[in-house]
Amino acid sequence: MTENQLDGITVIPTGKALGAEVRGIDLAKDVSEDLIARIKEVWAEHMVLLLRGQFLEKERLADLAALFGGLMVPGSHGFYLKDGHRPGDSARIADVPGVTYISNLDKEGKPQLKTEGSGSAELLWHSDNSYMETPPMGSLLNAVRVPTNGGGHTRFCNQYLAYETLPDDLKQAIEGMHIKHDRSRNTSGKVRVTFERAATREDVIGPVHPIVRVHPVTKKRALYLGRRFDGPSSHIVELPEAESEALLDRLWTHATQEEFVWEQDDWRPGDLIMWDNQAVMHARTAVDHTQARLLHRVLVQGGPVVAPWSEDAAAE
Ligand code: SIN
Repeated sequence: MTENQLDGITVIPTGKALGAEVRGIDLAKDVSEDLIARIKEVWAEHMVLLLRGQFLEKERLADLAALFGGLMVPGSHGFYLKDGHRPGDSARIADVPGVTYISNLDKEGKPQLKTEGSGSAELLWHSDNSYMETPPMGSLLNAVRVPTNGGGHTRFCNQYLAYETLPDDLKQAIEGMHIKHDRSRNTSGKVRVTFERAATREDVIGPVHPIVRVHPVTKKRALYLGRRFDGPSSHIVELPEAESEALLDRLWTHATQEEFVWEQDDWRPGDLIMWDNQAVMHARTAVDHTQARLLHRVLVQGGPVVAPWSEDAAAE
């Protein structure tokens, strides 16, 4: 097989609501601008890409994020930290800036149920870092060690479809609305060590984003729900708490239906999955805590979250 030639690429859709496997590329080797542009096209079309056999040094993974739109590094790009706290020092942060360990290993390299990160826990549906003013457009996750028949399946759901299939009354109900995205909780629902749990709705800290966003490339509308925790937490700013909760219940049930989902249920070392946070949410099933799971993740810089009803969307 010829590596990294545009005409050597094969795209095999999953046959589900989103996702495709891309063959014929070795991202450890040089990639031309044309090839990056082609991958971006395929990425925008399929939302989630799986590339097998990508054994990438952490530095290379960081370089790829830069090539796909910009590497995000904690402590910059508006990564939120409570006053007086600094990034670094965490076992989750790799020695290469911008690379995070998604892992259930402790400092001795042994798998654990709980770690200072997400450990072996199930991760709830979310869109990465929606609690930032400018959330990442994409995420790249590269498998180093993964369990055999030990869970840790990464699930993705298509938020274009979620929007398009909303009943008309729901579409109308959410037009012009916004969600405040609680930045105090992590993806397993725990309050981050540098934050306190909000006692009231007014105490919730985080940016306000439109509940529907326009994808900058496809120009399609996608639901943008972020993540959901028991309150006081993320909420619809235009509605009183009870009404916000009732509407969010309906939206979340609709948005995470199985028919919108594709699941990576056979992670292998060297797998690279790249997903588009502007059009999908993702989740992870619990991991067998007796088996090691280690992946490297980088975030690709995004742009502003644009509402379809805003002047910015109308101008395009
Ligand atoms: C994540 O939510 O970013 C991690 C997904 C995974 O561990 O499979």
